[in-house]
Amino acid sequence: MTINIALLGFGTVGSGLPGLLLDNQQKLGMILNQKIVISKILLRDQETINRVKKDGFDYPFVLSMDEILQDDSISIVVELMGRLEPAKTYISQALSAGKSVVTANKDLLAIHGRELRALARENHVALYYEAAVAGGIPILRTLANSYASDKITRLLGVVNGTSNFMMSKMVEESWSYDEALRVAQELGYAESDPTNDVDGIDAGYKLAILSEFAFGMSLSASEVQHSGIREIDKSDVEIAQQLGYVIKLVGEIVEVESGIFAEVSPTFIPKTHPLSSVNGVMNAVFIESLGIGESMFYGPGAGQKPTITSVLADIIRVVKRMNDGTIGKSFNEYSRETKLARPEDVKNKYYFSIETPDSTGQFLRLVKIFTSEDASFEQVLQQKGDGKRAIVAIICHSLNQVQLKNIREKLNREVDFSLLNSLKVIY
Ligand SMILES: NC(=O)c1ccc[n+]([C@@H]2O[C@H](COP(=O)([O-])OP(=O)(O)OC[C@H]3O[C@@H](n4cnc5c(N)ncnc54)[C@H](OP(=O)(O)O)[C@@H]3O)[C@@H](O)[C@H]2O)c1
Repeated sequence: MTINIALLGFGTVGSGLPGLLLDNQQKLGMILNQKIVISKILLRDQETINRVKKDGFDYPFVLSMDEILQDDSISIVVELMGRLEPAKTYISQALSAGKSVVTANKDLLAIHGRELRALARENHVALYYEAAVAGGIPILRTLANSYASDKITRLLGVVNGTSNFMMSKMVEESWSYDEALRVAQELGYAESDPTNDVDGIDAGYKLAILSEFAFGMSLSASEVQHSGIREIDKSDVEIAQQLGYVIKLVGEIVEVESGIFAEVSPTFIPKTHPLSSVNGVMNAVFIESLGIGESMFYGPGAGQKPTITSVLADIIRVVKRMNDGTIGKSFNEYSRETKLARPEDVKNKYYFSIETPDSTGQFLRLVKIFTSEDASFEQVLQQKGDGKRAIVAIICHSLNQVQLKNIREKLNREVDFSLLNSLKVIY
């Protein structure tokens, strides 16, 4: 027996599927007792068909989605085109036509996931998207299955390879942000417009998806706060090193009594924390839970082979669901009302880098500002001033979001102080 699938898009990830099916033919046969056959591939135009054929791929290529929708022998549509449209329309059409969908499209899932999941439910078909988060790391399935018996209290993720590559170079080789971006672009890790990667937007999309699986709460992309690495300069990196930390772009979701809080931000990580050793384009998700305790899942967040391997794992899961008559069950069955944490309940340590006049009494002024918000210092470092200006680095004990906002505002109000940076510190 064969399972016919259709592929939408044949780029970096999609073009890896024929080879992977071939490499795993024997194993797949044993697991499924069925052959997975790519029976149609949607390409953009005739020119692309000619080019792809020249590259040695000979499949039934089509130029219209209707040819896939009207083909009753196709039960699974694999979307690997990326972007919001026409991916959203095509996926909706496939689900409405009773076909299951596998996709790696994080932007689409983070923005329209709720609607697409509902459509899959209504049509009793599957919608799977393991590769949308951390490429090759099987994190969503692990959260859905292996953590079913556990309660997760905090999730930390280094889930954007581009920014992690850049921060690793800034930390290990003292590169500036601009040098790191230039090399990331030369190596093809960063796009010509790097906004989504360096401003934490891409990591925020992945965090929104992770929150469904880890906390059973679905967050819209706008409910994940995000800031990026553009403002990190060499002095922050050096101060972090001196104080025993490295800086990385980290996504955090934490559950407190009033709800969950999700944020992507450049973060101080102690050199002793497992996430501090996640370098280059690698990804990792670190989980704190009541049952297992601390665990970390590490692997390649992108690349053709890791990503298409995750996609094929989803296809296999969907076929198994079709076989055992559970196809209408959702990828993640943990769902509860979304409650956002109150800002006063969300606490973290913070690092502040402040430029002050290089004269007596400045430290006392800083102490007054912090103590007015009940904040106390854990570590302080003053760099030698030049007689005019001095830089003071402070790591404070735990602050809630209201205290943090007030301290930032008070520091910004002092005309002769300059708040150079303030970053989260995890411990
Ligand atoms: N690359 C990774 O390592 C990675 C990792 C995790 C997740 N993902 C996700 O996987 C998906 C695919 O990524 P990718 O890196 O393979 O992207 P890609 O190399 O740009 O491939 C996408 C392909 O889809 C084609 N396409 C776009 N719109 C189309 C349309 N309307 N009709 C027919 N073909 C169309 C593109 O053709 P044109 O070139 O003509 O536009 C391109 O060949 C994205 O959602 C991405 O976020 C990728």
